[in-house]
Amino acid sequence: MRRLIDSLEKNHCLTKEEWTALIAQEAEKEYLFERARALSRKYYGSKVYTRGLIEFTNYCRNNCYYCGIRRDNTDAERYRLSEEEILDCCREGYALGFRTFVLQGGEDAYYTDERLVSLIRRIKASYGDCALTLSIGEKSKESYQMFFDAGADRYLLRHETADEKHYRKLHPKELSLERRKACLFDLKEIGYQVGCGFMVGSPGQTVECIAEDMLFITELQPQMVGIGPFIPHHETPFAAEAAGSVEKTLYLIGLLRLLKPNLLLPATTALGTMQADGREQGILAGANVVMPNLSPVGVRKKYALYDNKICTGEEAAECRGCLSRRMENIGYRLVTDRGDPAEI
Ligand code: SAM
Ligand code: FES
Repeated sequence: MRRLIDSLEKNHCLTKEEWTALIAQEAEKEYLFERARALSRKYYGSKVYTRGLIEFTNYCRNNCYYCGIRRDNTDAERYRLSEEEILDCCREGYALGFRTFVLQGGEDAYYTDERLVSLIRRIKASYGDCALTLSIGEKSKESYQMFFDAGADRYLLRHETADEKHYRKLHPKELSLERRKACLFDLKEIGYQVGCGFMVGSPGQTVECIAEDMLFITELQPQMVGIGPFIPHHETPFAAEAAGSVEKTLYLIGLLRLLKPNLLLPATTALGTMQADGREQGILAGANVVMPNLSPVGVRKKYALYDNKICTGEEAAECRGCLSRRMENIGYRLVTDRGDPAEI
């Protein structure tokens, strides 16, 4: 197995059989994490990039079986932030040292292309030294182009799974893997820094599915990859399913660092929800990004993708301070920086 880890670090690719063997065995963990940390140190030093996450709407037209804000969850208390409220979040975030804002939300018809373009322009006009990331789902190539022209820099769209059969287990028939992948290639072609990703341990996921994810990531060559454990939400069809494993997530973070050494890899909130020091462990496995919440405290509990989500009661400043201490405790530091990918 050490041979496969070395080969991944050297060649930045593996065959499906090799991926399957490595992921199934989770062997040589400490060796992998050491190699992964050495690479993140080489490209990013002791810096951990931070993104201010603004969860601006939980209205969603989609019905993904895993997600707590799915259309059919009539229990979800819906909200959307106004343009002014979003700008207030940016103002607070900027003062705290954030230089990347991530606008994330469900696929909400209220936020038309015109409204989004106006919002993007206003944010970029006030905070020209900040990167703006969108995470608002599947749109036409024309819409992606309009947002890019208005000033958006990055786009996060997890592919969720690269295995067709598994995709069908997680989504209703109106959604398709083909479309999801096409969106990612459109975004890349337009010139966005692109992030894909998947949940670890989602219902029906096999080792072969994850091997397919790794092959897809090798093909797409995204700048970012977001992975975190699947965590059930009590008002979804997957309420009774088991959560994903923290250990497997950490192992995959290590492998992703070797696959693409300058990747922007978040230690996700889902990881911190599953285990108190999950985000620290993520950094020690090779991650280099954290994404604390900048949404107003009043709405945080409502953006419940899964149960028991952390940081829903803390103010933005508290989360930033908390994460800063957590990173310092393990020898890293949060920086005030846009956090673009390092040159290889
Ligand atoms: N609507 C946008 C989209 O689809 O890309 C952005 C919001 S979506 C809720 C953000 C991500 O949350 C999804 O890509 C999914 O991987 C993750 N997610 C949803 N439900 C989850 C769950 N139960 N456990 C862990 N992650 C979850
Ligand atoms: Fe939010 Fe620790 S990061 S309280």
